[in-house]
Amino acid sequence: MIKENMQKAINQQINAEMYSAYLYLSMSAYFESINLKGFANWMKAQAQEEMVHAMKFYDYINERGGRVLLTAIEAPPTQWDSSLAVFEYTYKHEQKVTGLINDLVNLAISEADHATTNFLQWFVAEQVEEEASADEVVQKLKLAGDRGGGLFMLDQELGQRVFTLPTATKQE
Ligand code: FEO
Repeated sequence: MIKENMQKAINQQINAEMYSAYLYLSMSAYFESINLKGFANWMKAQAQEEMVHAMKFYDYINERGGRVLLTAIEAPPTQWDSSLAVFEYTYKHEQKVTGLINDLVNLAISEADHATTNFLQWFVAEQVEEEASADEVVQKLKLAGDRGGGLFMLDQELGQRVFTLPTATKQE
């Protein structure tokens, strides 16, 4: 059975992941509003990934005999100055999430909660990817420019992203 303080911290992480989903969906809506359909598609897939993250934590608490307690999700921003500003925001946000995951790992280690330490390793690896994929778009936007032909090409590329459920989730 999961300990009270670990359960509380993971419940907070469910909220943080749901907020991330909300944030990226808001970014997707912003891109829709400026007719960058490819960018909107990328952000929508990102929002769906965040829901998967939230559900992994949700299922884990239940599996360990704990109690999931959902709380209010903060409203995300709705407006940005440019596509580059959106992706710079995303990159910073993912760095913040990495910090939250690291804090959870530190707590699990200090509590000698080996099951949770082990469970969290998936997220440690996932955050490396999350930061890298956001930064990749930041770098491409800087190269291609935030308007004109370069932006159009990048919009086509980001439109190719397809959301797929992670293998581990499919098997559960
Ligand atoms: Fe749930 Fe983008 O990390």
